[in-house]
Amino acid sequence: MPDKLLEVTGLSARYGKVNAVLEAALQVGAGQIVTVIGANGAGKSTLLNAIMGALPTSGSADGLVVYDGQQVQDWRVERRVAVGMSLVPEKRELFASMTVEDNLLLGGFRRFRAGERDWRDEMENVFRLFPRLKERRAQHAGTLSGGERQMLAVGRALMAKPRLLMLDEPSLGLAPRIVREIFHIISGLRETGVATLLVEQNARAALQVADYGYVLETGEVVLHGPARELADNPRVVESYLGLGKGRKA
Ligand SMILES: Nc1ncnc2c1ncn2[C@@H]1O[C@H](COP(=O)(O)OP(=O)(O)OP(=O)(O)O)[C@@H](O)[C@H]1O
Ligand SMILES: [Mg+2]
Repeated sequence: MPDKLLEVTGLSARYGKVNAVLEAALQVGAGQIVTVIGANGAGKSTLLNAIMGALPTSGSADGLVVYDGQQVQDWRVERRVAVGMSLVPEKRELFASMTVEDNLLLGGFRRFRAGERDWRDEMENVFRLFPRLKERRAQHAGTLSGGERQMLAVGRALMAKPRLLMLDEPSLGLAPRIVREIFHIISGLRETGVATLLVEQNARAALQVADYGYVLETGEVVLHGPARELADNPRVVESYLGLGKGRKA
């Protein structure tokens, strides 16, 4: 694997006494796309939030989170952001009454405050990736379509120039065409050197763009491997890729 950017070991997370993630281990190499697939309630969001240090106050976690060679598991979220970790949460948390442009600018706020003079330049890169956002730069975020909102959430995260982008179910609630568009953009991010940790229920789409994948079941990593091998694994096919009952396409 390329240089290790993130290495998580023995990560457990709980709400009160209920374990949501148990002894999880995973790695993300620099510039890689790594996916964690799992069903509803498997613990995917909990895992991402624990890596980011952003569990709700009812939650707690232990284990090691090593980012770029540093143990960060006791750091506050802001400090993790400052070294290049970024999370787009399941609830996108956009400012509905603010414009697309202002939402993007907020994503660069930390860089502005840190005195980085070129912090605004990143917006042109975001607009290159998401031309739709440029067209709608003056529109209120609350009036965007679901797909556009997702693009804005990712664009806002990119304004912070992260090295590790963690995405919590970017495909949620989107039509297949928009899912393809967003995943195409995510796979294009590889060239910019950003590493992506992608948590998804949509295993098919996720395994298509990812280099490597982990399968999370009731809080535990039960299987992992190169994304292509996982996509052929009978257990994955049966549980996550089959066309059988009750599955999301
Ligand atoms: N704030 C919370 N308080 C108590 N329990 C929680 C909380 N958040 C999540 N849980 C529980 O932890 C488990 C894992 O939830 P989590 O949200 O991490 O799953 P998920 O894989 O992200 O699911 P989904 O695909 O539906 O988003 C579930 O049993 C859930 O009910
Ligand atoms: Mg979730």
